Amino acid sequence: NERINIAIDGPAGAGKSTVAKKVAELLGYVYIDTGAMYRAVALAAYRSGVDAADGDRIARLLETLKIALYPGPDGQRVCIDGEDATAAIRSREVTLRVSQVASHERVRLRLVEMQRALAASKGAVMDGRDIGSHVLPHAELKVFLTASVKVRAARRFSESGAEQGVSLEQLEREIVERDRADAQRVHSPLVRASDAKLLDSTDLSIEQVVEQIVAWSRTKL
Ligand code: C5P
Repeated sequence: NERINIAIDGPAGAGKSTVAKKVAELLGYVYIDTGAMYRAVALAAYRSGVDAADGDRIARLLETLKIALYPGPDGQRVCIDGEDATAAIRSREVTLRVSQVASHERVRLRLVEMQRALAASKGAVMDGRDIGSHVLPHAELKVFLTASVKVRAARRFSESGAEQGVSLEQLEREIVERDRADAQRVHSPLVRASDAKLLDSTDLSIEQVVEQIVAWSRTKL
């Protein structure tokens, strides 16, 4: 019963968290959503009135912030200083600012340290942007999950766009912009690691994507 680490990276809305959660369930592993950690920092900065561009102040804020991830009945929950922020980190205010917050080196150093500690005993399915390329370069299985931008926007729209009062077209523009910011930043940008398996989910169901990743994981055990 060897355990491995699985890194799942890719652009916004590719289905990483849905898929990673199910893969973790099937394998009896822990699911770690690193985007939620960046979102928690973005939310805390926003609430404290700290500019998303001010990396030094955000890093200082982060020093005293307690971010906790723990499994709940319907997925990972996030607490900031003891308060459940699982829903709040998905708000539009956070989504529009998180990429800038995540661009700062000092912010990333701190969160990457937490992420590596969480995966240290193996048996982690971790999703994000730089997991295979930077956080867990020795992960036994690396997947780069993509889908066309149209499909990704449509998925996001059906999840939350409609209820947040944003049009499909607007969501698509925001996704393109977030991918651009994440792929072009200086510190550990969104990139496919050279040894990551490419999986395009445009024409696949969630079940098919999960099945493929679980099948790959079996070859690593
Ligand atoms: O995965 P999610 O869309 O929730 O991530 C929100 C944002 O957090 C991303 O757009 C990116 O700016 C940042 N992020 C990151 N590195 C990760 C995970 C997320 O920079 N490993």
